[in-house]
Amino acid sequence: MNIELLIFTFTEIFGKTGKVRTFFAPGRVNLIGEHTDYNGGHVFPCALSIGTFAAVRPREDRKLKFYSINFPNQGIIETTLDELQYDVRDDWANYPKGVLVKAMEDGASITHGFDVVYYGTIPNGAGLSSSASIELVTAVIAKELYQLSFSQIELALLSQKAENDYIGVNCGIMDQFAIGMGKKEHAIFLNCQTLEYAYSPIHLRNLALVIINTNKRRGLTDSKYNERRSECENALALLQTRLEITSLGDLTPEQFEQHKDVIENETVRRRAKHAIYENARTIKAVEKLEQGDIIGFGKLMNESHISLRDDYEVTGIELDTLAQLAWDAGAIGARMTGAGFGGCTVNLVELEKVSEFIEKVSSQYEEKISVKPECYVVEIGDGAREITNQ
Ligand code: GLA
Repeated sequence: MNIELLIFTFTEIFGKTGKVRTFFAPGRVNLIGEHTDYNGGHVFPCALSIGTFAAVRPREDRKLKFYSINFPNQGIIETTLDELQYDVRDDWANYPKGVLVKAMEDGASITHGFDVVYYGTIPNGAGLSSSASIELVTAVIAKELYQLSFSQIELALLSQKAENDYIGVNCGIMDQFAIGMGKKEHAIFLNCQTLEYAYSPIHLRNLALVIINTNKRRGLTDSKYNERRSECENALALLQTRLEITSLGDLTPEQFEQHKDVIENETVRRRAKHAIYENARTIKAVEKLEQGDIIGFGKLMNESHISLRDDYEVTGIELDTLAQLAWDAGAIGARMTGAGFGGCTVNLVELEKVSEFIEKVSSQYEEKISVKPECYVVEIGDGAREITNQ
């Protein structure tokens, strides 16, 4: 994104007077550890160099004026600090509104409003966390404009609360954490139960990270997502009748095998199996990476997809086709990423084979599914931040 253009758009819409400050929050891709965050397990996501840009200028009154270059037909969405309740007519602007509400609930003193123009470079509905990205960029705006004392982790947590209680999507902490805490050329190994984390360097010297969008609209995502959450809660309650655990993430695969008979429902048992094995896989994958064993890491990515396909059942024909085509085309590792039911795959590919890989997978996918996929070779970037004067 050209920042001059963003500022130019801002002044076209809101006029020229006063200093305009600029901010950025990335999107995220999860390398491994899917549907483990709300089960108290580990995840391994990284922030991307695509994301949401924002140009902002404080106001003296209590008005808030939101504009998105991505949704020009919606025009300026206007409200005040005294009217921050969820309003379906405010559409996407409910995300920033929710963040302001949660910041105030957490003690922020916000006495005047602002004008803001957003511009997102994350494809919408692709499962790369465009919503967490707009939440975090707004959280950083609030922190900097009102000189709030929140840490980046606190900003991630209040953004998650906005998503859970205000927007009504029951997500875990992975997306907001990755976007708040991202680090260039690193993935984040996060324990979602304790929020302990460590950065792992991802050297893509002779490798490329390729994201492929199925271009399938992610219908039903929220209801199916909530269904999986409650299936895991059921499994946990049953296992707790025998074991002293607080989440599925507390169990090793061996312990699960020993006690799985307590879960009579075969579907619920498979859901728990995925959550527990995926957590173990994630821990193992990070070890492999540390040992420089990228092939071993890739194999675990593939196993993750198979488990999400067969046991957790959140893939679908589009994601499964993309993964299979990627394996056949020689990807080091390929799997669905994010909630599933559409969205994207993440692929580790040898740099010199990237063009051939993209060409092969795209054309065969189009042949089989009759939809053109989109491919992005992405870079791992830093977390949410102010970019004024950078
Ligand atoms: C979505 C949610 C995350 C996480 C993933 C699945 O992206 O927002 O919290 O649960 O799905 O791993």
